[in-house]
Amino acid sequence: MNALATAASTPAASAGAAAAAARGPLVAADLARDFPILSRPVRGKRLVYLDNGATTQKPEAVIEAERRFYRESNANIHRGVHWLSQHATDLYEQARERVQRLLNAARADEIVFTRGTTEAINLVAYSWGRANLKAGDEIVLTGMEHHSNIVPWQLICEQTGAVLKVVPLTDRGELQLDAYEALLGPRTRLVSVVHVSNALGTVNPVARMIERAHAVGAKVLVDGAQAVAHQGVDVQALGCDFYAFSGHKLYGPTGIGALYGRRELLAAMPPWQGGGDMIRTVSFERSTWADAPQRFEAGTPNIAGAVGLGVAIDYVTAIGLDRIAEHEHRLLAHATEAAQRIPGLRLIGTAAHKAGILSFVVDGIHPHDLGTILDAEGVAIRAGHHCAMPVMTRFGIPGTARASFALYNDENDVAALVAAIARAQQMFGGPPR
Ligand code: ALA
Repeated sequence: MNALATAASTPAASAGAAAAAARGPLVAADLARDFPILSRPVRGKRLVYLDNGATTQKPEAVIEAERRFYRESNANIHRGVHWLSQHATDLYEQARERVQRLLNAARADEIVFTRGTTEAINLVAYSWGRANLKAGDEIVLTGMEHHSNIVPWQLICEQTGAVLKVVPLTDRGELQLDAYEALLGPRTRLVSVVHVSNALGTVNPVARMIERAHAVGAKVLVDGAQAVAHQGVDVQALGCDFYAFSGHKLYGPTGIGALYGRRELLAAMPPWQGGGDMIRTVSFERSTWADAPQRFEAGTPNIAGAVGLGVAIDYVTAIGLDRIAEHEHRLLAHATEAAQRIPGLRLIGTAAHKAGILSFVVDGIHPHDLGTILDAEGVAIRAGHHCAMPVMTRFGIPGTARASFALYNDENDVAALVAAIARAQQMFGGPPR
């Protein structure tokens, strides 16, 4: 690797590197200093950013990596004979290797860069789905999927005649695993399941679900959008066929994400988008395709985004995903206890195994009103259906207020959240007695 490549992709310049190198529980306040936006006030208040499920903030190292790419390394990739193009190609392919290591994929060519989770799922639906599904085939989803893991399959079902089967939820927001197993059968071609629910926080037992699906010969796609930033993921240990995630929920840039696909599956899949970089030969009579992953990366990709994502991966890896997971679990336990003491507040999603997502409703206050009042206090949460309308229907509510935690949040943020909820209750005539 040349010197520029090393410099442009090294995160160690981050002020957080020293803090990250420390062992033991992480100190969120130290790490928060790596994120410039967290020191800006909002509405004259300290910003309490609890909308990490929607997108995480970016550390200086990631911001700097993108800036540096455009200042020092920008050229198109896989095309140029000139030095700068080869250099940019090296950086892009090094980012792919970082994704490979993050997911513990066996090979870098099992990683396809996409715009994010949504595009990764659409890729599988339009490429694998159209080539492999026929009338009467069954796709098993769950009742807690994000719209991006429902709608692409509905579109493919319309085209192929395949049908959807849906695993129901318990009142705690867990999957009914008996029902899941009963849905699996000789017609099941694919199970597409979320690893961590964005609306409920539930961590699904995907390893066990994959094993059961494989026993009936089905393939499994795991939507890891809410998982990769909050726990270690090992696609080989899970045994999944596809795994999708977004960079922007992993402290990386927007507009970049990845699909992991087992090599033999990707090798057999047709292209889903045509254009430059995905072909071997083109003539007006017939074109032939490049091997995976290039076959699925038509057109100029988000090169700077991939480089930024690589640096984001280095950032979380240096801290340790196990330490991040421990920190967020402690914070979730603390926030859950605090929330349960608020009269009139009901948690939505109380699974035994949860990631750092606290979804709730408050008696007499619409989630959108709650979100607006919290915002006036500097507390950023998400309110609404969270692109998971079937979850809201299941619980008979229009939406929830959702606080979602990241490595830079701590007990002070939870205290600000609780105080802002109390303020909203006062504005609406006080909490119920
Ligand atoms: N899917 C993202 C969320 O849950 C946008 O907020």
